[in-house]
Order: sequence, then C-alpha cells, then structure tokens
Amino acid sequence: MTKPAILVARKIFPATIAALEQHFEVESNQDDASWSKAELIARLQGKVGAFTTGSERIDAELLTACPQLRICANMAVGYNNFDIDAMSAAGVLATNAPDVLTETTADFGFALLMATARRISESEHFLRAGLWKKWSYDMFAGAEIHGSTLGIIGMGRIGQGIAKRGAHGFGMNVIYHNRSQLDAATEADCKARFVSKEELLKTADHVVLVVPYSAASHHTIGAAELALMQPTATLVNIARGGIVDDAALAVALRDGRIAAAGLDVFEGEPKVHPDLLTVPNVVLTPHIASATVATRTAMAQLAADNLIGFLIQNKPLTPINAAQVASK
Ligand code: GLV
Repeated sequence: MTKPAILVARKIFPATIAALEQHFEVESNQDDASWSKAELIARLQGKVGAFTTGSERIDAELLTACPQLRICANMAVGYNNFDIDAMSAAGVLATNAPDVLTETTADFGFALLMATARRISESEHFLRAGLWKKWSYDMFAGAEIHGSTLGIIGMGRIGQGIAKRGAHGFGMNVIYHNRSQLDAATEADCKARFVSKEELLKTADHVVLVVPYSAASHHTIGAAELALMQPTATLVNIARGGIVDDAALAVALRDGRIAAAGLDVFEGEPKVHPDLLTVPNVVLTPHIASATVATRTAMAQLAADNLIGFLIQNKPLTPINAAQVASK
C-alpha cells in the first residue's frame, strides 16, 4: 500500500524524519533552503500533510492551490502563521505544540529578565571591548529582581510558569493582566493578582509579555504604554514580534523613558529594527526561548505525532480547529 505523502517545510532532527518515514512518503527541506511561497505551494502538490514551523504562512491562497492538504502541524505553540479561519473553511486541520515547551520557555523568560535588569549583555560587551580599567561603585548598577514587582501580560501556561518562578523563587510581588481573570486556585498557586493593563504598566518594576499575537494584540506596547511605565522599569518580550512597537521601544530606550528591554522576538524577524541595534540598554536574542535540545526534540515529536495521529489514527493530539474541520 502506498504511504500518504507529506512535506516537512524546514530542516528538522533526522530522528523526527525517520519517525515520519515509518508512516509517510516524506519530502523534507533538510537543506533548509528559503522557499518562496510559490515554491512551498509547488512542493505541497500531492501532499496531504505539512510539518511547519512559525516561518510558513498558511493562508487562503496556499490552501486554494493545495486542495488535497488535510493537516498542517506547527512545531510551535504560537500559530499566528496560520489563517485559522481559512484553514477551517478549507477543512484543513491545524495543530500546534503546547505544553512541552512551557517550563523551558518560562526559564528563558526569567533568564532574559535577569540579564536585562542586571545589565549582563551590556557589561559583557564592555569587558570584551577591553574597557574595564578599574572598578567603580556604580558600574552597571541595575534594578533589583528579588522583592520587586513583576507584571505579566498574558497569563497562559508560560505566564503562569514565570509568575511561579518570580513569586516562589524570588519573593516578587506578582501582578498580571490577561483577557480574563484566572480562577482563585490558579491565582493562589501563582501568588498573582489581576490588575488592569494601565495599573500594571504604572506599577510594575519589570513587565514581561507572554500574550499570543493576533490583530487585537498588535502593538500591545507602543509609545503610549511605554509612557506609562516607570523610568526604572524593564520590559521583556518573549511573546511574538508585533506585540511591541519596536520603533517606539527604541526611542523609549534611547531617551531613558524606560531603563532596559530584553527581546527574543521582533517585528519582521529575522530582521531587527536598526535602532534597536544601536541602543546599549537592550538584550537581543534570536527567538530562542524554547531552544533546549530536549524541548525542541519534544516539540518536533509532538508535531510529528499530530501528523501520525490525524492521518493514520484519526486522532490528533493537540488540534486547534478540530470542531470546525469536523463540521465541514
Ligand atoms: C515559539 O515561538 C513558539 O510559538 O513555540
């Protein structure tokens, strides 16, 4: 019996390809070539499944050109590269990779917060440049973490992980803002208090963004929001590019409107706003919050298991639009 054909759109672990090859005819991009949309569409011809990452845009144009496609399995928890309405209308299942990255990503959020508040990148650059000639009392004096107020915008699984690290590990006063208030037991577990976005921005010493990207969350932080923050405050974005207005942030950092920022995600990445590259008080990392070997392996396995689960066993593990697809 011929196996169903799938496309793996990016280079991925050989073991994941081997696991997929047990069930499918696999075409994969192990050269990690940058495919144009037309090339992606051409390669998807005859494929019933696609293993995608956040880099591939799945929209109505692509779906119309690939009528045999039945599932796109994203190796990411975020899925703003998917037009879910168009996928549901086309009867194409979308799956993502939640849970397996929660703790690792929360670890990174906390690491980026600490590196930013304690000016680790800035001081390392200073040392590497041979500028350290003598000690001085205020050299790279940053902001306190323990006992300070941590404000989290977006209190899903990763936000909750960061809250617990802050409250239980560092004695922080945790406040959060979210589309809806969490139940009392979860709030107690995270030792977190629900506040308005405005109160959070005005009172937090450190603001961490973990909100999913959508049209509604575009520029959650822009010039007006930055103006509400304390001049000593730190801003960390591990959510998605576009949640922060990067141009406005660069101005706020340059003018000392806020003290520092830590950014793992950028508008239009892998491009980075040129003004962010010239301000010293920002820590920049290339979208690596979930990047440990164990977690990236688990994310790839979950995406593969979604393809196998849906196409072979009719039971995807982490579907996004199962009800809409079932009603087609
Ligand atoms: C990474 O950004 C993810 O969404 O998993």
